Amino acid sequence: MLSKRKINKVKLPNNKKNLRLDKFIDLALYERNGYYLSKKPIGRKFDFVTSPEISQMFGEIIGVYLLYHWKEKINSKFNLIELGPGNGTLFKDIERTAKILPNFFENADVHFIEINKELRKIQEKNLHYFKQSKIRWSTALDFRSELPSIIYSNEFFDCFPVRQFLNDNNHWFEKYVKFNEKENKYYSINKRVVSNKILDYLRKYKRQKIYEVSYSRNKYFEQICKYLKKNRGICILFDYGYNKKIKNFTLQSIYNHKKTTIFENIGQQDISSHVNFNELIEIAKQNKLQINEFVSQKDFLLKYGIVERKKKLLTQNSNLNKNLLDEELDRLINVDRMGNLFKCLVVSYL
Ligand SMILES: C[S@@+](CC[C@H](N)C(=O)[O-])C[C@H]1O[C@@H](n2cnc3c(N)ncnc32)[C@H](O)[C@@H]1O
Repeated sequence: MLSKRKINKVKLPNNKKNLRLDKFIDLALYERNGYYLSKKPIGRKFDFVTSPEISQMFGEIIGVYLLYHWKEKINSKFNLIELGPGNGTLFKDIERTAKILPNFFENADVHFIEINKELRKIQEKNLHYFKQSKIRWSTALDFRSELPSIIYSNEFFDCFPVRQFLNDNNHWFEKYVKFNEKENKYYSINKRVVSNKILDYLRKYKRQKIYEVSYSRNKYFEQICKYLKKNRGICILFDYGYNKKIKNFTLQSIYNHKKTTIFENIGQQDISSHVNFNELIEIAKQNKLQINEFVSQKDFLLKYGIVERKKKLLTQNSNLNKNLLDEELDRLINVDRMGNLFKCLVVSYL
């Protein structure tokens, strides 16, 4: 467990009070000293490695997909918005791919939505191919532009804090966090749900033993859907997640590539949860958006030609190591690795 001095780095409210789980996660990730505001999280040296960091082929396939949709359905000025660009690697791969269709970037107003100042610096440094003055950075989505949009992300929606509910013989309990002064550590407790509004909401999950929900994630996605509906556009997102009932909560924390508990290394480690894609799909449908794709990462990448891309890379460049490329491809599409757990959702109003 951490010493109290270290825990205090992230300012948590009065220790004697119970803190709702999502509020605790929000502070651990987004408070001034929280994980996403103060640490460089991504890359082989850091806490986790993401698909664009594993292989350029991931971004190239997404790039071709975006070019196709832009050419077919927009073909005019548009917003190209990346949510949580990390090191900027995915963008770099899309940008290289777009050289086959120069009109694409000539028409693009590029926005990066990035909350982490350190990552923003890395993004600026990594984008030496691009005229940086054309990129706009913000910490939150801005819906003022009336242009159609292409919005995309990888491992962005898993960052949002969740609430956790347990059903014990039709009595609902919610997870809260408490601080034990004597032992100098945080732990979780279950508090009976008394709010009628929440109990009403939970009624439709009465057959489930547990229910995990991220209201902030759903709200963020809903804003995107409404924006797409207003000005047209498409949103393509990759994340780990599920579309079936879950038996266990999915909240997890990682520190230096190792699984931990959320009460360790507060503010220093990644906390994430699996995305409930059913809820996102439902939100998109309620807003009359089309569901263009909802498939595993494996199926998406295979459908849009990652195997052919690998072959082409090998014939174009004899210096490339075939075994290395095979390993990259395997990590991305093998169902025991990222292939199945990661999903791709594409929704549009075009
Ligand atoms: C898990 S990383 C993924 C990075 C990158 N997309 C990749 O695949 O390598 C999440 C990214 O989203 C950013 N981020 C997390 N929460 C955010 C928020 N609420 N608003 C804006 N950016 C956020 C992080 O700083 C980081 O760049």
